[in-house]
Amino acid sequence: MLIDAHAHLDDEAFDADRGSVMQKIEEAGIMVINAGSDIETSEFSVELSQKHDFIYACIGIHPHEAAKAGGNYIETLRQMAECEKVVAIGEIGLDYHYDFCDRNAQKKVFLEQLELAKELDLPVVVHDREAHQDTLEILKKSGIKKGLMHCYSASLEMAEEFMKLGFYFSFGGTITFKNARRPKETASNLPLDRILLETDCPYLSPEPYRGKRNDPTKIKIIASALAGLRGLPVEDIKQATASNARSLFKLPQANNC
Ligand code: NI
Repeated sequence: MLIDAHAHLDDEAFDADRGSVMQKIEEAGIMVINAGSDIETSEFSVELSQKHDFIYACIGIHPHEAAKAGGNYIETLRQMAECEKVVAIGEIGLDYHYDFCDRNAQKKVFLEQLELAKELDLPVVVHDREAHQDTLEILKKSGIKKGLMHCYSASLEMAEEFMKLGFYFSFGGTITFKNARRPKETASNLPLDRILLETDCPYLSPEPYRGKRNDPTKIKIIASALAGLRGLPVEDIKQATASNARSLFKLPQANNC
């Protein structure tokens, strides 16, 4: 069993052929944690999880959307989280690379959602782009005890700090890119019991599909890349990362895993 810990199957890139993409995922026996980015895509994420056994949902407001969160978004998310297939609050965090949204608004919405996750005893899925120090400080301040640093891009030293807070790390297509020295280094050296695999589809297709639309079936390529980096059989990588995803998101145990 392979688990794609971070995908956006709600994205409009799948509007034309979502049905056949879903079928291929099911045929490949892949489980997907689908992350919302705002209220609408979070609702869509929950809907997909209701329609398909192999989909679980994360709900949350992405830092790009923080300014549009609205007055009662926390209450809306709280109600949405009542669905048992909602397994995390995400993706949430900080993005200082694009800075699409005022940094203070990003921080406020991030912290409010961390507090909600703590209240609901759910893990969080964190987007941290060029905002490592502030992300760490806000996580510490919130008292959150479990989560995933998705598409982890900070250093190995910093990973130690996130691990102290009970965090896991997921890696995707970037570990197949020639020039991605840092993700390769962290993916090679972090303890295997802290690592998950993700596609972040429709973005970040692994080589040799870089630049094309990504989808969860490409998680196999990412599993092989990680196996290569760590010098382990791909079967060990599949089992370890699936077991890590199951324990973080409290997914039911599958018979075939
Ligand atoms: Ni994402």
